[in-house]
Amino acid sequence: MSEPLKIAIAGLGTVGAGLITLLNANADAITARCGRELRITAVSARDRTKDRGIDLSGLEWYDDAAKLAVEADADIIVEMIGGSEGIALDTCMNALKAGRSVVTANKALVAHHGMEMARIAEENNVSVLFEAAVAGGIPIIKSLREGLAGNSVSRISGILNGTSNYIMTRMRNESLDFESVLKDAQDLGYAEVDPSFDIDGVDAAHKLSILASLAFGAQINFDDVYIEGIREVSLMDVQFADELGYRIKLLGIAQRTENGIEQRVHPCMVPVASAIANIEYAINAVEVECDFASTIVHAGPGAGAGPTASAVMADIMDIARDNIVPLFGVPCDKLDAIPTVHMDEHHGEYYVRLMVVDRSGVFAEIATILQNHDVSMESVLQRGRAPGEPVPLVMVLHETREADMKAAIKEISALDSVDGDPHMIRIELLHG
Ligand code: NAP
Ligand code: HSE
Repeated sequence: MSEPLKIAIAGLGTVGAGLITLLNANADAITARCGRELRITAVSARDRTKDRGIDLSGLEWYDDAAKLAVEADADIIVEMIGGSEGIALDTCMNALKAGRSVVTANKALVAHHGMEMARIAEENNVSVLFEAAVAGGIPIIKSLREGLAGNSVSRISGILNGTSNYIMTRMRNESLDFESVLKDAQDLGYAEVDPSFDIDGVDAAHKLSILASLAFGAQINFDDVYIEGIREVSLMDVQFADELGYRIKLLGIAQRTENGIEQRVHPCMVPVASAIANIEYAINAVEVECDFASTIVHAGPGAGAGPTASAVMADIMDIARDNIVPLFGVPCDKLDAIPTVHMDEHHGEYYVRLMVVDRSGVFAEIATILQNHDVSMESVLQRGRAPGEPVPLVMVLHETREADMKAAIKEISALDSVDGDPHMIRIELLHG
């Protein structure tokens, strides 16, 4: 048997503590599979006195994680702190420059600094592995980097944020509004330290930018991801979606087009019969469309201690077994800078809900504006009767260019007969 692999862990919260629990539970099988023992030697967190429900006796404690990265008696550093800057970045950079491989669950860090980290890792002949950064327990990084490596990927779409999916599911199933469900998602350990990252689509965008890089052999380009979150999705829209045969999901979609890559995160209406429509609570799903393997749907728990620790452990085991491939599928200098297509050029179908004053002639005004912008209607629904009062008017619009759609909505929202802002949700026709 080879020498033990010595591990230092920075961050002992949901994921860090979960990792120690996993190793304690499955140590014998893990040792057998790696051909060597995995031994935790040192840890760092903010509060040394906190009861974490795990035994830390015998482990070297560091108040400063950046110091642990260079001084701990360890072969690899596992970063489970979070945040794209500050201590998490310092810890990882220090480790790489000191010639130590890094395992991280930190998608914000990889989305913002993944290229730089990969370059420093290559220069120092070490690795940065980040399976847990995307879709929790689903081995989607390994799937793209290794399992599907022989394919050309044309599109990735998926539910990449467990917190938002948990909220959307409970809103629909229990007729709740999202504020009342968010607290439960936080208590369950799904949400980020700043939960606005989950709700506003930023966390899903971090993950999407990483997947797009792996899938298309492109440099990570987080800044160009189009992002809309779920704050504006009302219970009324969730219920209209049901009536029209759709479910609302926050999706991340990356797609190759003739003009570059579309990268977008926004609420979508998906057909109720699609695989992704039926992914509920904190479960994530990623659909990969490729030329030879066809469409593959990966699904599983996307957040929480156990699933995330499982993904972190898989990376540690790859290092222990010396099973290392280029971090983004190809060496850094072979990653292309592929342009991102602007959202205005997106073509798709749309759901639009307006609150309109219930009087004659209103619909004709709206239809004229749509016609002027070359936007064609597939169906219309009006609910309720309240002469002179606002009532919901729902339209499903045929495939059109986003810029035309937005221009039409802007004009419609300025009409005297329209109350408040129109709600627009893109309809996404999935293949799985
Ligand atoms: P968490 O529960 O908030 O834990 C963060 C840990 O970092 C805590 O132990 C905290 O110490 C420690 N910490 C904070 N500042 C520190 C500092 N300056 N020096 C040393 N330690 C410091 O977070 P988490 O949910 O485990 O998430 C960790 C990472 O995993 C994040 O990047 C997150 O995005 C990612 N992730 C999380 C999940 C999930 O389901 N939770 C899933 C996938 C990926 P104290 O405990 O002493 O306060
Ligand atoms: N906050 C993230 C989520 C954790 O809800 O999906 C997993 O990355």
